[in-house]
Amino acid sequence: MGYETFEASRLTPHLGANISGLDLTRPLSNRQLDELHDALVTHEVLFFRDQSLDIESHKRLGRYFGELAIHPNTPGPEGHPELLPIHADAHSKRIAGENWHSDVSCSEEPPLGSILHLKEVPEVGGDTLFASQTAAYDALSPRMKTYLEGLTALHAGERNYRRNNEKDGIDDRGRSYPSAVHPVIRTHPVSGRKLIFVNEVFTMRINELPEDEGRAVLEFLYKHSTKPDVQVRFKWQPNSVAFWDNRSVQHLALWDYYPQVRSGFRVTIKGDRPH
Ligand code: SIN
Repeated sequence: MGYETFEASRLTPHLGANISGLDLTRPLSNRQLDELHDALVTHEVLFFRDQSLDIESHKRLGRYFGELAIHPNTPGPEGHPELLPIHADAHSKRIAGENWHSDVSCSEEPPLGSILHLKEVPEVGGDTLFASQTAAYDALSPRMKTYLEGLTALHAGERNYRRNNEKDGIDDRGRSYPSAVHPVIRTHPVSGRKLIFVNEVFTMRINELPEDEGRAVLEFLYKHSTKPDVQVRFKWQPNSVAFWDNRSVQHLALWDYYPQVRSGFRVTIKGDRPH
């Protein structure tokens, strides 16, 4: 769809495209990268098949789009702190990303995007769902848009990461986690589109509203911003890659395949301060 260096086929009216004709294991040209960046902002999440990325090609791909971030709770394996292992098997007590969220929105500068490569996937199940926050914003009534304009929300990592660590049997006493205040409605720095930027994992409260009113508004937004009509659902195969614009989508990973194995790595690209 309109690109010189690869094919992009749109999956839903609001977000998601399958990309074919690119080998992500090899260095990419400037033209390919310009078009990929454009496709990411346009389609919000891109899917690729049959990409046997190794650690180096995975990190190189991420670095084309910015500096790589180290996860505040789970640094990667020895020598590769920027790699986030995404792994579930018969011993897992939880998986990463089971609830709707935008990656690390508790950071002052939340990630631009994340690139997930899975090597091993269950026979069926383990899909990832993505929801367009630009489409969700567009679907708000004009009155609600006006009401939300100028509000800010506190995002904190503490509740989520401590709960995860407790389930994993990790003693995290003495650790501290990032928190940040972001606008409830942010403007995408590249497309200029407005979008909803709150999520049930990291958002704690709306600063300018009384507690109960803010809670009710957040509950409404969580439901509204993840409705099926703004979603796309990705079915993984071994060596599939998903690259999402973390500024404009929320996502959720399904754990319907226990006790099977689902395994790979994510790299996360640093972003800028939401405005
Ligand atoms: C995540 O990055 O939140 C996990 C996504 C997935 O495993 O599909």
